[in-house]
Amino acid sequence: MSLRDPGRTCLVTGASRGLGLELVRQYVADGWVVHACARDPASGALGEAIAASNGNIVPHVLDMMDPEAPARLAHDLRGMSLDLLINNAGVYGPPVQDLSGVDQQAWLDAFTVNSIAPVRLTLAFLPYLAKVKGKVVTITSRMGSIGDMMAGGYYAYRATKAAVNASLRAISIDVAAQNVTSVVMHPGWVRTDMGGKEAPLSPKESVTAMRKVISGVTLSDTGKFFNYDGEILPW
Ligand SMILES: NC(=O)c1ccc[n+]([C@@H]2O[C@H](COP(=O)([O-])OP(=O)(O)OC[C@H]3O[C@@H](n4cnc5c(N)ncnc54)[C@H](OP(=O)(O)O)[C@@H]3O)[C@@H](O)[C@H]2O)c1
Repeated sequence: MSLRDPGRTCLVTGASRGLGLELVRQYVADGWVVHACARDPASGALGEAIAASNGNIVPHVLDMMDPEAPARLAHDLRGMSLDLLINNAGVYGPPVQDLSGVDQQAWLDAFTVNSIAPVRLTLAFLPYLAKVKGKVVTITSRMGSIGDMMAGGYYAYRATKAAVNASLRAISIDVAAQNVTSVVMHPGWVRTDMGGKEAPLSPKESVTAMRKVISGVTLSDTGKFFNYDGEILPW
């Protein structure tokens, strides 16, 4: 299936760098209007991309730690139709997450960003997605899979991703009647600030592969946990 889908509208969180910035770049290059959400969208590489986009990248300030921010953004964008919502923003969480301990407040903050905010954003934008049989893609991690867990450690990060998986799976059941498709997706191990320099995939490779999967996903796939290459992952 062609990736070209002109005239479509998507919203991406965590657009300032890493996978989010690459998602913005690829969708806008493909003719989409991209609502790029970041804590400081005017700065850095995202600011430059916005300036060069002829208005096709629309910046929004969005802090995933702010519980009112999703509803406020949805109110600002009232009347819109949304083909694709990508919950991408995420944090690793506490610097230490092993047998020596885990910082409680850092874990709770990671839970807010990784687990609660994507749910609140999805609910806020549901009416706009339902208008056009839209899709919600939540960037999770294979590290949140309990069925696939072969190594220890990373207690907080794993838990925040397992939690968002559970919530979005439940939402996928609730929104199917509105013809909204919701899937969660592991982007692979990617060379970003979070993934580090040793990761095998570039953001371009990961996002190109994920866009192919996203483009092919239909309502019959709702509630699935995808790898970036289309493989189905265990919960
Ligand atoms: N890279 C990997 O190997 C890998 C593997 C599995 C899953 N993932 C997932 O993929 C997603 C993207 O990760 P990445 O690798 O691109 O990481 P990254 O380079 O560290 O980027 C994280 C993004 O999330 C944003 N963010 C963090 N806290 C935020 C907040 N409170 N409000 C708004 N935005 C916030 C950051 O914005 P600021 O610039 O403002 O901090 C940044 O845009 C995450 O959900 C991550 O868990 C990544």
